[in-house]
Amino acid sequence: MLSKRALCIQNMQRYESIFVCPFCAEPLTVEDSGRIVCPSNHSFDIAKQGYVNFMTKPVQSMYSKQLFEARHAVISSGLYDPLQQRLAELAVGELVLDTGCGEGSHLARIMEKRQGFGVGIDIAKEGILAAAKFHAGLVWCVGDLAKSPYRKGSFDTIFNILSPANYEEFKRLLAPGGKVIKVVPQEGYLQQLRQQAFAQSDKESYTNHQTVARFKESFSSVEVERLTYTLELQKELVPKLLEMTPMGWHIENQKAITLEEITIDMDILIGTV
Ligand SMILES: C[S@@+](CC[C@H](N)C(=O)[O-])C[C@H]1O[C@@H](n2cnc3c(N)ncnc32)[C@H](O)[C@@H]1O
Ligand SMILES: [Zn+2]
Repeated sequence: MLSKRALCIQNMQRYESIFVCPFCAEPLTVEDSGRIVCPSNHSFDIAKQGYVNFMTKPVQSMYSKQLFEARHAVISSGLYDPLQQRLAELAVGELVLDTGCGEGSHLARIMEKRQGFGVGIDIAKEGILAAAKFHAGLVWCVGDLAKSPYRKGSFDTIFNILSPANYEEFKRLLAPGGKVIKVVPQEGYLQQLRQQAFAQSDKESYTNHQTVARFKESFSSVEVERLTYTLELQKELVPKLLEMTPMGWHIENQKAITLEEITIDMDILIGTV
Protein backbone atom coordinates (compact mmCIF):
# COMPACT_ATOMS: atom_id res chain seq x y z
CA MET A 1 0.00 0.00 0.00
CA LEU A 2 1.21 3.52 -0.80
CA SER A 3 2.26 5.68 2.14
CA LYS A 4 0.19 8.82 2.73
CA ARG A 5 3.07 10.89 1.40
CA ALA A 6 3.43 8.78 -1.76
CA LEU A 7 -0.33 8.96 -2.39
CA CYS A 8 -0.24 12.74 -1.97
CA ILE A 9 2.72 13.02 -4.41
CA GLN A 10 0.84 10.90 -6.94
CA ASN A 11 -2.37 12.96 -6.67
CA MET A 12 -0.53 16.28 -6.84
CA GLN A 13 1.39 15.14 -9.92
CA ARG A 14 -1.85 14.09 -11.58
CA TYR A 15 -3.33 17.56 -10.97
CA GLU A 16 -0.02 19.46 -11.17
CA SER A 17 -1.38 22.09 -13.56
CA ILE A 18 -3.72 23.57 -10.93
CA PHE A 19 -0.91 24.52 -8.52
CA VAL A 20 1.00 27.84 -8.64
CA CYS A 21 3.59 29.33 -6.32
CA PRO A 22 1.95 31.42 -3.56
CA PHE A 23 4.99 33.75 -3.58
CA CYS A 24 5.33 34.50 -7.32
CA ALA A 25 2.31 32.83 -9.02
CA GLU A 26 4.55 30.85 -11.40
CA PRO A 27 3.65 27.22 -12.20
CA LEU A 28 4.81 24.58 -9.74
CA THR A 29 6.47 21.26 -10.56
CA VAL A 30 5.79 18.32 -8.25
CA GLU A 31 8.95 16.19 -8.22
CA ASP A 32 8.94 12.43 -7.53
CA SER A 33 10.82 13.15 -4.30
CA GLY A 34 7.84 15.14 -2.96
CA ARG A 35 9.56 18.49 -3.38
CA ILE A 36 7.40 21.11 -5.08
CA VAL A 37 9.29 23.91 -6.81
CA CYS A 38 8.67 26.99 -8.99
CA PRO A 39 11.06 28.44 -11.64
CA SER A 40 12.27 31.04 -9.10
CA ASN A 41 13.21 28.24 -6.72
CA HIS A 42 10.57 28.78 -4.07
CA SER A 43 10.01 25.29 -2.73
CA PHE A 44 7.59 23.33 -0.54
CA ASP A 45 7.70 19.78 0.76
CA ILE A 46 4.97 17.20 0.95
CA ALA A 47 4.94 16.16 4.61
CA LYS A 48 5.05 12.54 5.71
CA GLN A 49 1.48 12.86 7.02
CA GLY A 50 0.34 13.51 3.42
CA TYR A 51 -0.30 17.26 3.12
CA VAL A 52 1.59 20.31 1.92
CA ASN A 53 2.21 23.59 3.69
CA PHE A 54 1.92 26.55 1.26
CA MET A 55 2.03 29.33 3.86
CA THR A 56 4.31 32.22 2.94
CA LYS A 57 4.57 33.22 6.60
CA PRO A 58 3.51 31.49 9.80
CA VAL A 59 0.23 32.59 11.39
CA GLN A 60 -1.24 31.86 14.77
CA SER A 61 -4.64 30.22 14.36
CA MET A 62 -7.31 30.49 17.02
CA TYR A 63 -8.40 26.97 16.15
CA SER A 64 -6.83 24.18 18.22
CA LYS A 65 -6.30 20.48 17.71
CA GLN A 66 -8.99 19.84 20.32
CA LEU A 67 -11.50 21.97 18.37
CA PHE A 68 -10.83 20.07 15.12
CA GLU A 69 -11.10 16.70 16.88
CA ALA A 70 -14.42 17.79 18.37
CA ARG A 71 -15.63 18.85 14.89
CA HIS A 72 -14.45 15.52 13.53
CA ALA A 73 -16.44 13.59 16.17
CA VAL A 74 -19.61 15.62 15.55
CA ILE A 75 -19.39 15.52 11.74
CA SER A 76 -18.57 11.77 11.74
CA SER A 77 -21.69 11.10 13.83
CA GLY A 78 -23.75 11.91 10.73
CA LEU A 79 -25.26 15.15 12.07
CA TYR A 80 -24.43 16.94 8.80
CA ASP A 81 -25.24 14.09 6.40
CA PRO A 82 -28.38 15.70 4.90
CA LEU A 83 -26.35 18.88 4.30
CA GLN A 84 -23.47 16.96 2.71
CA GLN A 85 -25.95 15.06 0.51
CA ARG A 86 -27.45 18.31 -0.78
CA LEU A 87 -24.00 19.83 -1.34
CA ALA A 88 -22.96 16.75 -3.34
CA GLU A 89 -26.06 17.19 -5.54
CA LEU A 90 -25.40 20.89 -6.07
CA ALA A 91 -21.70 20.52 -6.95
CA VAL A 92 -20.73 20.60 -10.64
CA GLY A 93 -17.72 19.33 -12.59
CA GLU A 94 -14.62 17.36 -11.70
CA LEU A 95 -12.45 19.58 -9.52
CA VAL A 96 -13.80 20.68 -6.16
CA LEU A 97 -12.09 23.03 -3.70
CA ASP A 98 -13.19 23.37 -0.07
CA THR A 99 -12.01 26.71 1.34
CA GLY A 100 -11.55 26.79 5.11
CA CYS A 101 -12.02 23.01 5.06
CA GLY A 102 -10.94 22.53 8.69
CA GLU A 103 -10.48 18.84 9.50
CA GLY A 104 -11.80 17.89 6.08
CA SER A 105 -14.78 15.68 6.94
CA HIS A 106 -17.35 17.68 4.97
CA LEU A 107 -15.31 17.52 1.77
CA ALA A 108 -14.36 13.85 2.23
CA ARG A 109 -18.00 12.85 2.86
CA ILE A 110 -19.25 14.96 -0.08
CA MET A 111 -16.69 13.40 -2.45
CA GLU A 112 -17.79 9.90 -1.36
CA LYS A 113 -21.20 10.75 -2.80
CA ARG A 114 -20.05 12.00 -6.23
CA GLN A 115 -17.40 11.65 -8.94
CA GLY A 116 -14.46 14.02 -9.14
CA PHE A 117 -11.43 15.07 -7.14
CA GLY A 118 -11.32 17.10 -3.93
CA VAL A 119 -8.77 19.63 -2.69
CA GLY A 120 -9.03 21.26 0.74
CA ILE A 121 -7.29 24.40 1.98
CA ASP A 122 -7.15 25.82 5.50
CA ILE A 123 -4.92 28.32 7.24
CA ALA A 124 -4.86 26.19 10.40
CA LYS A 125 -2.18 23.51 10.29
CA GLU A 126 -3.93 21.55 13.04
CA GLY A 127 -7.02 21.28 10.83
CA ILE A 128 -5.07 20.05 7.80
CA LEU A 129 -3.10 17.58 9.94
CA ALA A 130 -6.40 16.08 11.11
CA ALA A 131 -7.74 16.06 7.53
CA ALA A 132 -4.68 14.18 6.25
CA LYS A 133 -4.87 11.78 9.19
CA PHE A 134 -8.53 10.87 8.67
CA HIS A 135 -8.92 11.24 4.89
CA ALA A 136 -6.04 10.17 2.67
CA GLY A 137 -6.69 10.31 -1.06
CA LEU A 138 -7.66 13.97 -1.28
CA VAL A 139 -5.14 16.82 -1.50
CA TRP A 140 -4.86 18.84 1.74
CA CYS A 141 -3.08 22.21 1.78
CA VAL A 142 -2.19 24.56 4.61
CA GLY A 143 -2.63 27.94 2.97
CA ASP A 144 -4.21 31.37 3.13
CA LEU A 145 -7.19 32.15 0.91
CA ALA A 146 -5.69 35.59 0.39
CA LYS A 147 -2.60 33.95 -1.19
CA SER A 148 -3.86 30.69 -2.53
CA PRO A 149 -1.55 28.26 -4.37
CA TYR A 150 -3.91 27.58 -7.31
CA ARG A 151 -4.01 28.69 -10.93
CA LYS A 152 -6.92 30.84 -12.09
CA GLY A 153 -9.93 28.96 -13.46
CA SER A 154 -8.93 25.68 -11.81
CA PHE A 155 -12.08 24.65 -9.93
CA ASP A 156 -15.58 23.74 -11.07
CA THR A 157 -17.05 23.96 -7.56
CA ILE A 158 -15.77 25.99 -4.62
CA PHE A 159 -17.27 25.23 -1.21
CA ASN A 160 -17.04 27.60 1.74
CA ILE A 161 -18.70 26.00 4.74
CA LEU A 162 -19.07 28.01 7.97
CA SER A 163 -15.79 29.74 7.10
CA PRO A 164 -14.55 33.21 6.17
CA ALA A 165 -14.69 33.94 2.43
CA ASN A 166 -12.65 35.82 -0.14
CA TYR A 167 -14.98 36.37 -3.10
CA GLU A 168 -12.44 38.03 -5.40
CA GLU A 169 -10.18 35.02 -4.97
CA PHE A 170 -13.07 32.56 -5.42
CA LYS A 171 -13.98 34.25 -8.72
CA ARG A 172 -10.36 34.07 -9.89
CA LEU A 173 -10.22 30.34 -9.09
CA LEU A 174 -13.57 29.42 -10.65
CA ALA A 175 -13.63 27.64 -14.04
CA PRO A 176 -16.16 28.86 -16.63
CA GLY A 177 -19.61 27.54 -15.71
CA GLY A 178 -18.47 26.85 -12.15
CA LYS A 179 -20.31 27.49 -8.86
CA VAL A 180 -19.36 28.96 -5.51
CA ILE A 181 -21.40 27.30 -2.75
CA LYS A 182 -21.31 28.93 0.67
CA VAL A 183 -23.01 27.55 3.78
CA VAL A 184 -24.03 29.97 6.54
CA PRO A 185 -26.00 29.31 9.71
CA GLN A 186 -29.65 30.36 9.84
CA GLU A 187 -31.33 31.50 13.04
CA GLY A 188 -32.32 28.00 14.21
CA TYR A 189 -28.78 26.56 13.94
CA LEU A 190 -27.96 24.63 17.15
CA GLN A 191 -30.84 26.50 18.78
CA GLN A 192 -31.29 24.04 21.67
CA LEU A 193 -27.66 24.57 22.68
CA ARG A 194 -27.83 28.32 22.27
CA GLN A 195 -31.00 28.53 24.35
CA GLN A 196 -29.41 26.76 27.31
CA ALA A 197 -26.02 28.38 27.02
CA PHE A 198 -27.01 31.97 26.45
CA ALA A 199 -30.53 32.42 27.79
CA GLN A 200 -31.37 36.12 27.94
CA SER A 201 -28.20 37.29 26.26
CA ASP A 202 -27.91 38.71 22.75
CA LYS A 203 -25.81 35.73 21.69
CA GLU A 204 -29.00 33.72 21.85
CA SER A 205 -30.20 35.15 18.55
CA TYR A 206 -28.32 35.32 15.31
CA THR A 207 -28.93 36.67 11.82
CA ASN A 208 -26.95 36.05 8.67
CA HIS A 209 -28.41 39.02 6.74
CA GLN A 210 -25.11 40.84 6.26
CA THR A 211 -23.29 37.76 5.02
CA VAL A 212 -26.08 36.92 2.58
CA ALA A 213 -26.19 40.51 1.31
CA ARG A 214 -22.42 40.54 0.67
CA PHE A 215 -22.64 37.25 -1.19
CA LYS A 216 -25.45 38.62 -3.39
CA GLU A 217 -23.37 41.71 -4.25
CA SER A 218 -20.40 39.55 -5.25
CA PHE A 219 -21.99 37.27 -7.87
CA SER A 220 -24.11 38.05 -10.90
CA SER A 221 -26.52 35.23 -10.23
CA VAL A 222 -27.36 33.89 -6.75
CA GLU A 223 -29.77 31.27 -5.46
CA VAL A 224 -30.48 30.71 -1.77
CA GLU A 225 -31.77 27.43 -0.38
CA ARG A 226 -32.64 26.86 3.26
CA LEU A 227 -32.09 23.43 4.79
CA THR A 228 -33.53 22.72 8.26
CA TYR A 229 -33.73 19.46 10.17
CA THR A 230 -33.63 18.19 13.74
CA LEU A 231 -31.85 14.98 14.75
CA GLU A 232 -31.50 13.02 17.97
CA LEU A 233 -28.21 13.68 19.69
CA GLN A 234 -26.07 11.01 21.31
CA LYS A 235 -25.19 12.03 24.89
CA GLU A 236 -21.44 11.82 24.38
CA LEU A 237 -21.61 14.42 21.61
CA VAL A 238 -22.82 17.22 23.90
CA PRO A 239 -19.32 18.12 25.20
CA LYS A 240 -17.99 17.87 21.62
CA LEU A 241 -20.63 20.33 20.40
CA LEU A 242 -19.48 22.71 23.12
CA GLU A 243 -15.85 22.34 22.07
CA MET A 244 -16.34 22.78 18.36
CA THR A 245 -16.47 26.56 18.09
CA PRO A 246 -13.72 29.04 18.96
CA MET A 247 -16.31 31.13 20.84
CA GLY A 248 -16.11 28.19 23.18
CA TRP A 249 -19.70 28.56 24.39
CA HIS A 250 -18.18 29.85 27.62
CA ILE A 251 -20.51 28.20 30.01
CA GLU A 252 -19.97 27.93 33.71
CA ASN A 253 -21.63 24.63 34.33
CA GLN A 254 -21.36 22.55 31.19
CA LYS A 255 -22.68 19.46 32.92
CA ALA A 256 -26.03 21.16 33.45
CA ILE A 257 -26.62 21.15 29.70
CA THR A 258 -28.91 18.39 28.51
CA LEU A 259 -29.74 18.02 24.85
CA GLU A 260 -31.83 15.28 23.41
CA GLU A 261 -32.03 16.66 19.93
CA ILE A 262 -30.31 19.34 17.94
CA THR A 263 -31.38 21.47 14.98
CA ILE A 264 -29.31 22.15 11.91
CA ASP A 265 -30.62 25.21 10.07
CA MET A 266 -28.52 26.52 7.20
CA ASP A 267 -28.72 28.79 4.19
CA ILE A 268 -26.92 27.40 1.16
CA LEU A 269 -25.86 30.27 -1.12
CA ILE A 270 -25.08 29.33 -4.70
CA GLY A 271 -23.29 31.90 -6.81
CA THR A 272 -22.21 31.96 -10.45
CA VAL A 273 -20.10 34.62 -12.13
C1 LIG B 1 -15.59 27.44 11.84
S1 LIG B 1 -14.24 26.69 10.99
C2 LIG B 1 -15.12 25.69 9.79
C3 LIG B 1 -14.31 24.52 9.31
C4 LIG B 1 -15.07 23.53 8.41
N1 LIG B 1 -15.48 24.14 7.16
C5 LIG B 1 -16.24 22.94 9.14
O1 LIG B 1 -17.38 23.31 8.83
O2 LIG B 1 -16.04 22.10 10.03
C6 LIG B 1 -13.54 28.02 10.00
C7 LIG B 1 -12.27 27.61 9.29
O3 LIG B 1 -11.81 28.67 8.42
C8 LIG B 1 -10.39 28.66 8.43
N2 LIG B 1 -9.85 29.95 7.91
C9 LIG B 1 -9.98 31.17 8.48
N3 LIG B 1 -9.34 32.12 7.74
C10 LIG B 1 -8.79 31.47 6.66
C11 LIG B 1 -7.98 31.89 5.55
N4 LIG B 1 -7.63 33.18 5.37
N5 LIG B 1 -7.57 30.97 4.66
C12 LIG B 1 -7.93 29.65 4.82
N6 LIG B 1 -8.69 29.21 5.86
C13 LIG B 1 -9.12 30.09 6.78
C14 LIG B 1 -10.08 28.39 9.90
O4 LIG B 1 -8.76 27.96 10.11
C15 LIG B 1 -11.12 27.33 10.25
O5 LIG B 1 -10.66 26.00 10.05
ZN1 LIG C 1 7.78 31.15 -6.70
